[in-house]
Amino acid sequence: MQLEGKVALITGASRGLGRAMAIAFAREGAALALCARGEKALEQVAAEVSALGAPVLAVPADVRSTRDLERLVALTLDRYQRVDILVNNASESSGRRPSPTLPTTRRRPSTTSCRSTWSLRSG
Ligand SMILES: NC(=O)c1ccc[n+]([C@@H]2O[C@H](COP(=O)([O-])OP(=O)(O)OC[C@H]3O[C@@H](n4cnc5c(N)ncnc54)[C@H](OP(=O)(O)O)[C@@H]3O)[C@@H](O)[C@H]2O)c1
Repeated sequence: MQLEGKVALITGASRGLGRAMAIAFAREGAALALCARGEKALEQVAAEVSALGAPVLAVPADVRSTRDLERLVALTLDRYQRVDILVNNASESSGRRPSPTLPTTRRRPSTTSCRSTWSLRSG
């Protein structure tokens, strides 16, 4: 187990790549802090990794919200006292190709991932 004793915080962990990383990290022995906006799907992933034996904290949070990020970090530090691995994975896939005539389809994903990356690293 390569991540035994490590604490990993993964944003956007309720499906897709975030969920896959949470499961992979749990199999390698990491303790996990997971977030996404949708509570039900997040709790399902938390149950999956818990069944693998991993300690897990699931915090519903929108990474665009400074208040949510502060709460996420505070709860994570309260539970584990540190973060060893930070995976800023949360992003919004528009499902469409970027288009110069639809600027918001390009702006929202980069705003979500870049802003949350900056906030979590500096918070
Ligand atoms: N899949 C690919 O082929 C691919 C390729 C290159 C890069 N990527 C990048 O890899 C990352 C994950 O991609 P994916 O395909 O796994 O995405 P996905 O299936 O759409 O999953 C996105 C995850 O992020 C969460 N999320 C979205 N907006 C959020 C927000 N504002 N706050 C908190 N959580 C949020 C979603 O849950 P909620 O909606 O419940 O919040 C979900 O858990 C993205 O950054 C994407 O740009 C993916």
